[in-house]
Order: sequence, then C-alpha cells, then structure tokens
Amino acid sequence: MTSEFKWDWVVKATHWTVAGLFFTNFFITSPGSDTHELTGYIVIAAIVIRLLWGLVTTSPARLSRFAPSVPSAIEHLKEVLHEKRDSHVGHNPAGAIMIWAMWTLILGTAISGWSMETDMFWGVGWVEEVHETLANLTMLAVTIHVSAIIVMTKLVKKNYLKSMLP
Ligand code: HEM
Ligand code: HEM
Repeated sequence: MTSEFKWDWVVKATHWTVAGLFFTNFFITSPGSDTHELTGYIVIAAIVIRLLWGLVTTSPARLSRFAPSVPSAIEHLKEVLHEKRDSHVGHNPAGAIMIWAMWTLILGTAISGWSMETDMFWGVGWVEEVHETLANLTMLAVTIHVSAIIVMTKLVKKNYLKSMLP
C-alpha cells in the first residue's frame, strides 16, 4: 500500500456510518429508545452491505484478501518491529484480525439488542447483560483499533487515515 492508496467509496461510506453510529448509540441515544433501535438497525445494514461488497469486488476490499491468520499477523508484526515497514496493499494481517473481531462484536451487539425486541427474549435479564457486555467489548476493540492506527502511522510512516478519507 503506497501513501496514494485509497479505499473505495463503499468501504469509506460503510466505515464512517458504522463508526459514527456506534459512538452515537454508545454515548448519545437513550438505551432502548426508538432512535437507539433504528441506529442499531442501520449499523447492521451497513455491515451487511460491506460484507456483500467484500464478496463481489476484486479490489483489496475483497473479504478473501484479508482472511484472518495468526501466523501472518505475527510475521507482519515482526516486520513492523524490525524493519519499520508495512508493505501490504489493503489491510495488513494484524488489522485483518481486528477487523473481523470488530465486525463480529458490533454485529453481536446489534443482534443481541434486536433480540430483546422478540417475544422470546423480551425482558430476559441475561440478554440485556449480553448486549451491554458486547457493547463494552466492541468499545475496547475500537480503542485498540484507533490506537494501533496512530502507533502504526508514526512507526511505518504510512497515512492509514488518509486512505479512509474522501
Ligand atoms: C475515530 C475513529 C476511527 C478511526 C480514525 C478509524 C480509522 C480507520 C482506518 C484508517 C481504517 C483503514 C485501516 C487500513 O487501511 O487497513 C479503518 C478500518 C476499519 N475500521 Fe475504523 N476507525 C475508527 C472507528 C471505528 C469504529 C468505531 C469501528 C467499529 C465499530 C471501526 C471499524 C473498522 C472496520 C470494520 C474497518 C475495516 C474497514 C473495511 O474493510 O470495510 N472503526 N478504520
Ligand atoms: C450499534 C449497535 C448498538 C450499540 C452500540 C448499543 C449499545 C447499548 C448500550 C451501551 C446500552 C446500555 C447498557 C446499559 O448500561 O444498561 C444499550 C441498552 C439497550 N439497547 Fe442497545 N445498542 C445497539 C443496538 C441496539 C438495538 C439494535 C436494539 C434493539 C432493537 C437495542 C436495544 C437496547 C435496549 C432495549 C437497551 C436497554 C437495556 C436495558 O434496559 O438495560 N440496542 N445498548
């Protein structure tokens, strides 16, 4: 990935929709309100669109181009530490693991929220607990995600943020 690399507009639009609405539901909307629910449903829709795009595009956004792999992530982190280099086009293998983790966590958060609306789980205490815990774990993953981008930008001198901006 050169500093010129830019993600396509589907990746950018869905990323900032998911990021913005995740923070909105975490900090702003009142838990369980209509706005909170609608916001959560839009998050699900944005991730589904992104995943479908990842099945059809042949660009670096293709899902199979960043399948999670621990050995590749370790290899990549060694290269970062020893050579201060990230030579991957698209997501690097450490980012890839975090991205799949974030998609899983945020979808889990939104789907557990959704399930509270069903007859089966209405008013069930542990489902609320699951929803809250997944929301907190997503926030933890996002904190690591943003920290990693800041550290990597300084370490390997690649402008990751610019690749996600218009
Ligand atoms: C201010 C906050 C954020 C910044 C600056 C940021 C920045 C970025 C950047 C630069 C990338 C591209 C990394 C690369 O080139 O490999 C990225 C990817 C990604 N970020 Fe964030 N991010 C933020 C918040 C979030 C939040 C809140 C979430 C999820 C809840 C999130 C989930 C993701 C995902 C899933 C990807 C992969 C994108 C894709 O392939 O569709 N990010 N982020
Ligand atoms: C991005 C997706 C979502 C995030 C980040 C999120 C986050 C949160 C958080 C942080 C709370 C407060 C937990 C607490 O401290 O009590 C909460 C509560 C709640 N959320 Fe969500 N939520 C999301 C999606 C949804 C969806 C899609 C629904 C329903 C359709 C939903 C329904 C609820 C309800 C009913 C509560 C109140 C639970 C209670 O009474 O404790 N959420 N959510």
